[in-house]
Amino acid sequence: MKTLIVVSHSQGGGTKKLITALIDGVSGQLFPELEIIIEDSVTIEPEKILKADAIVLGTTENFGYMSGALKHFFDRIYYPCLDAKRGLPYQLIVNADTDGFGAVNSVEKIVIGLGWKRIDKPLVFKGKITPKNLSDCKDMGGTIAAGLEMGIF
Ligand SMILES: Cc1cc2nc3c(=O)[nH]c(=O)nc-3n(C[C@H](O)[C@H](O)[C@H](O)COP(=O)(O)O)c2cc1C
Repeated sequence: MKTLIVVSHSQGGGTKKLITALIDGVSGQLFPELEIIIEDSVTIEPEKILKADAIVLGTTENFGYMSGALKHFFDRIYYPCLDAKRGLPYQLIVNADTDGFGAVNSVEKIVIGLGWKRIDKPLVFKGKITPKNLSDCKDMGGTIAAGLEMGIF
């Protein structure tokens, strides 16, 4: 059994739409050996990350940085995961109004410290969420599910 953990937080609902589309893409693959755990970055227990084979991180860009919710997540999981989860494959999804660079940059500094391994380049969505954005997230979900199933990460 492989476990994918999806950790995000959405204040206005936009990030939630993107993450829901990604989860649809994972579920659509119908791999019985793949478990998906969906968590809010504010409330997730750090120990849950210990069982992850891959992680999706969803964040808004706030004040040129990742959301406070995702930073709170990193603050809590850093030491419990530092040695235990080196090499964890991760995919970052950013929802911003006009930029997104600060959110990507701030997350990447931390995941480099944690020794996590990028699955693919961050998906950054700006402005109003479009059907194409949702379809990109769904495709990414399918890619992650297939990669986990085939053991390529
Ligand atoms: C406090 C705050 C700060 C923000 N700062 C930025 C920013 O620096 N750059 C940007 O592109 N968008 C910024 N935004 C816009 C949000 O990233 C954007 O509206 C996002 O889609 C919200 O996602 P949500 O609907 O999941 O809450 C900010 C929003 C808030 C509430």
